[in-house]
Amino acid sequence: MGADQIDRPADLDVVRESYDRVADNYAEMVATTGMGDIRRHPWLKASIDAFADTVRGLGPVLDVGCGPGTVTAYLAERGLDVSGVDLSSRMIENARRLYPHCRFSVSSATDLSLEEASLGGVLGWWSLFNLPRAVLPQVLALFARALKPGGHLITGTHVGDEDAVRTEAYGGVPVRWTTHKWRPERFVALIEQAGLRPVAELRLPADEFSGPGLVVMAERPA
Ligand SMILES: C[S@@+](CC[C@H](N)C(=O)[O-])C[C@H]1O[C@@H](n2cnc3c(N)ncnc32)[C@H](O)[C@@H]1O
Repeated sequence: MGADQIDRPADLDVVRESYDRVADNYAEMVATTGMGDIRRHPWLKASIDAFADTVRGLGPVLDVGCGPGTVTAYLAERGLDVSGVDLSSRMIENARRLYPHCRFSVSSATDLSLEEASLGGVLGWWSLFNLPRAVLPQVLALFARALKPGGHLITGTHVGDEDAVRTEAYGGVPVRWTTHKWRPERFVALIEQAGLRPVAELRLPADEFSGPGLVVMAERPA
């Protein structure tokens, strides 16, 4: 599975434009409210710490849908060889401004060209929920193939049954995207079907910024 075999989401341009519009507010909210800042969320931080400890020394780590680079920079600080990539060029402008010592690039998860067995770790940290339901398995298969044996994926996503159409986000900015929520067992099954072995799951209740969530860590078997 290479990026050339991944279907292009029909709404990709609209989703990109929407994230470009919210990017400045998003970065501001991370700084001022702690939203998306793992340092202020002990269980999310524990998950990312466990991921970092697990993949350290295995190879490069790619933070797909890195937004303003909060987690990318955290992992770099912890000594990982990490880079971030995001669909939104404005998100990446903010990431580069905030963390000039880190490496960032602009791309959709559906356009990535990743060598087989080239990564020690890959993140889809609250960044895969806009992918249409039929496209997510293709992206997970790309990630699985790109991981070295023993390499790990960590991903967080929104839990539920519905496809929630958003028309505003992050401080009332007009957007147009769909949040595809997943039942945990279905989401974990997709990860298994991609060829990865789930090693940990964390369920999160709704909080002031978000509905219920799920974090899954999975390994490419040796
Ligand atoms: C809720 S933000 C999370 C950002 C970051 N991971 C964090 O935790 O702060 C979702 C991010 O996913 C990105 N995104 C959405 N669809 C994407 C795609 N197809 N490829 C790459 N990034 C995408 C958005 O641009 C946005 O930056």
